[in-house]
Amino acid sequence: MAQLSYVSGSVGLITLQNPPVNVLSAATRQGIMESMKKALNDPKVKSVVICGQNGVFCAGADIKEFGPNISGPSIVPLIYDIEVANKPVVAAIEGSALGGGLELALTCHYRIAHSKTRLGLPEVTLGLLPGAGGTQLLPRLIGIPASLELITTGRHITAAEALQLGLVDHVTQSDTVDSAVKFALSVEGEPLDSRRISKRPCPHLPDLDAVFEAVMQKVRQKFYGAIAPIACVQAVRAAATLPFSEGMKREQQLMSTLFTSGQARALQYSFFAQRAVGRWSMPSGASWNTSKARPVHRAAVLGLGTMGRGITVALAQAGVSVVAVEIQEKQLNEAREHVYATLERGAQQSGVSPSCANITYSHDIQAVADVDLVIEAVLEDLSLKEKVFQQLSAICKPGTLLCSNTSSLDLNCLASQTKNPELVVGMHFFAPAHVMKLLEVVYGSKSSPEAVATAMQLGKKMGKISVAVGNCRGFVGNRMLKPYIEQSYFLLEEGATPELVDKALEEFGFPMGVFRMSDLSGLDVGWRVRKEDGLAEPVGTSGQITRLRGGRRYSPLGDILCEHGRFGQKTGLGWYQYGRPGGRVAKSDPWVFNLLEEYRARLGLTARPIDQQEVLERCLYSLINEGLCILEEGFASSPEDIDVIYVFGYGWPKHRGGPMFYASMVGLATVLERLDHYYRSNPDVPSLKPCKLLRQLVASGSPPVHKWKEITKKIQNRL
Ligand code: NAI
Repeated sequence: MAQLSYVSGSVGLITLQNPPVNVLSAATRQGIMESMKKALNDPKVKSVVICGQNGVFCAGADIKEFGPNISGPSIVPLIYDIEVANKPVVAAIEGSALGGGLELALTCHYRIAHSKTRLGLPEVTLGLLPGAGGTQLLPRLIGIPASLELITTGRHITAAEALQLGLVDHVTQSDTVDSAVKFALSVEGEPLDSRRISKRPCPHLPDLDAVFEAVMQKVRQKFYGAIAPIACVQAVRAAATLPFSEGMKREQQLMSTLFTSGQARALQYSFFAQRAVGRWSMPSGASWNTSKARPVHRAAVLGLGTMGRGITVALAQAGVSVVAVEIQEKQLNEAREHVYATLERGAQQSGVSPSCANITYSHDIQAVADVDLVIEAVLEDLSLKEKVFQQLSAICKPGTLLCSNTSSLDLNCLASQTKNPELVVGMHFFAPAHVMKLLEVVYGSKSSPEAVATAMQLGKKMGKISVAVGNCRGFVGNRMLKPYIEQSYFLLEEGATPELVDKALEEFGFPMGVFRMSDLSGLDVGWRVRKEDGLAEPVGTSGQITRLRGGRRYSPLGDILCEHGRFGQKTGLGWYQYGRPGGRVAKSDPWVFNLLEEYRARLGLTARPIDQQEVLERCLYSLINEGLCILEEGFASSPEDIDVIYVFGYGWPKHRGGPMFYASMVGLATVLERLDHYYRSNPDVPSLKPCKLLRQLVASGSPPVHKWKEITKKIQNRL
């Protein structure tokens, strides 16, 4: 897995050979150790170059080997061996040097990087820290503030930035290994003491305590509840205050705590889940490896409101040429400016030129005639969308894929308006569409596997994490949100406040509790849907309030707020007050407390104390139960699909893996017992009734998430 060869007479060239990205598996570590020993013992060898095969230096540790008992030689002594070598060791870095790969490079005496290389220490994103000396070496090389930023965020940097920070010694545009070999020849025989990073003191920082305190505060706020970023700060602090060997011991202690934490397991699960969703399948048996995507060179976006603008930006950034269509002249002009400004800003941030040349604007739907794919993003109105799909079907060239960004309408209804329903799929983006990572690709009963493959591929090209889901009401994400929101309303009726519910959910790790989130997205959106569904009835100030709809409990609290024109942030008032329309800072509103008291009095409800545990159990377990129903019914093909949707689209804390993973960590039997308990006392709330799959999983001994498929398959076959 690492091979020693001899070049230019005196250079020992060690090549990492662990395709595709040369991760530091046990065999690779062993290979490096043996090659290094051989090179150092060989009197012909005067210098050593370490490189990776296939244009990649090393993408880090082998995540599959993660755990407290790693087999094979540990990476830490290996790293000491390289640093103490009495012959210059040069890292020839190309492709990527990440995690353990960068730590390996840090132990070399010199680092030469290709200009296209990406470097970083992303361990924190897997719930860990750079535990092979990274937290002790990096601050000694580039200083404390820059190290703290890189290690606590896991951000990847370019070779140019690495050079600026002093992380690499030289950047080349030509062959990296050749440059490194020439460089190695030029430094043969030179003293190495100053090149050994561990021997250097950390650059002095006058206000050390204040810097660490500020970073710690920032990290606690930004990564609420996550322990790895905190351990990263503690480890860097050890580098700043302790001798190297003591700092290394501290790094190891912190690393073992993280290794055994549930958070590292959750984050590593999430890492693999993100990859697993790409291997999609449909109930028909069609899947990613049997379906071929079609190329999309030219796409159209129809409707340039909130979503259409973001989708246009994301397509242009992916290099797809876009025809952007909007019927209202004013909206069209605003959209043009908005898209231009967003692309400019994005280009400035990433240092590339904006892709405006790829977009043409029109108010005429005929402009979509020759595109490969259309994404419809007009208002959420079934009859309007049906009409649009009839038009698209008549105008577009044969074979054009017709996609809808609908968040709740039945895709089959839209498909039935077209000549070729097999060409219709949902592409459900999340706002803002050029920022949010998640894309639900929705297949209807007639969508062809090729159409699904094309939408999945386009999503990937746009930098999205695309998840294929079935066509049920609300698809996966929004369907699960319904019982979660419903429970939060019931909790208010029973005695909670928006503050209490939000606090419990935010302390769990959501960036926003359910009420702050609803205020942000707009309370009127759900109200419109509930009115269309015949659920929301006018309540007024004195009339009778009814809490049952078709035998199921219903809370009209959200409707009452809307009747008072309280639509959330956009009107300055919602579950909280915001000072002005469009205000962002939520403050408690006595009006809401009075409303709740009057409401309870009108219904004869007595407020009771509700604790955070109950909030979490009722909101989260009902959401989890809905997710399990979705799995049972086959609208999602795996628990990983659901977890990825929740982490990347709904703010579920990443260090808790996702709702399905969390349920398995809590214990499925516990989730079942609590749902049973709440359903017994709330028999008119069907979303609390444990689903069949949950019972079956518990009866099968609560297997780990990756084994659920065996049981879901059995249930689905019986349906
Ligand atoms: P919006 O109201 O901001 O924009 C809709 C635009 O479509 C308007 O500018 C309107 O003039 C235009 N339009 C209407 N009929 C048209 C036609 N025949 N041809 C061309 N343009 C036409 O709506 P928004 O929020 O962008 O939503 C669009 C779709 O995206 C809806 O289906 C919605 O459910 C879905 N969606 C919305 C999300 C959100 O957070 N706003 C999130 C995910 C999906």
